[in-house]
Amino acid sequence: MVKPGKFSVIRTVPAMRRWAEKNGGICGFVPTLGALHDGHVSLIKKARSENRVAAVSIFVNPLQFRKKQYLAYPRNLEVDLEIARKAGANVVFAPSAEEMYPAGFETGVTLPQFFQRLKPQGLEWHYKGVLVVVLKLLQLVRPSKVYFGLKDPHQLVLIERMVADLNIPVTVRKCPTVRERDGLARSSRNALLTPDERKAAPVIFRALSHGKREMESGASCAQAMAGMREMISAQPLASVELVEIADALTLAPPGNRTRDVLIFAAVRIGGKRLADNVRFRLK
Ligand code: PAF
Repeated sequence: MVKPGKFSVIRTVPAMRRWAEKNGGICGFVPTLGALHDGHVSLIKKARSENRVAAVSIFVNPLQFRKKQYLAYPRNLEVDLEIARKAGANVVFAPSAEEMYPAGFETGVTLPQFFQRLKPQGLEWHYKGVLVVVLKLLQLVRPSKVYFGLKDPHQLVLIERMVADLNIPVTVRKCPTVRERDGLARSSRNALLTPDERKAAPVIFRALSHGKREMESGASCAQAMAGMREMISAQPLASVELVEIADALTLAPPGNRTRDVLIFAAVRIGGKRLADNVRFRLK
């Protein structure tokens, strides 16, 4: 059990910089979009248990959303602050959009070439927005470790590449996805589902688990993916956006020698995009 310690909320860039000058080097950092759930709580607890202090950011990043999604994203800062504090955070950085992107802000990042062979094509703008905000947050908080869940493997692989390419002095810690009892991966987006959609959503994890069983019993990637698509399509509220099997270490298409496998699915449930994945090792 993590004992909550000293706790403060920072809203501005200069104040965050001042905090980081003293605490950055001993800090574990959990960047979030808010709407904190048990998945975030487990990341914050881990950050606190592995570092002298834990920092959390709560920022709905306009660069990674379409306008409509951005406006609809669940926001409840007071509730989030209490969750973060109880989980052991010492500081929450919760800037406004104007604070992070003042008038005149222009600089972006380029995605690495290998993103072209990953499947979430059409989402380049989204991942560029993620990298920009993560880079800015790492500059401001200056943590020694940063914590991410494994739920978005594309985001994670891009962040790891950026950290290596730009010599950012931080260790990226990857933590397992936290699930509801019925298997649905915890996500802030789950709050947007209607009761019927919520009932339908566990089909994603059932399909991923089915794909895993198939591959473990010798099915080809094509067979496993076909079975998964069929299973998801049988749920009337679900439509498959992407089912992908990849080498879990590189996200490249699996080859004969691939042992660490990642199965990834992005599914629209009543129009809301939910993504999940499973990782396993083939014998
Ligand atoms: O995964 C998320 O919650 C977001 O993409 C992140 C990393 C906090 C950047 O806004």
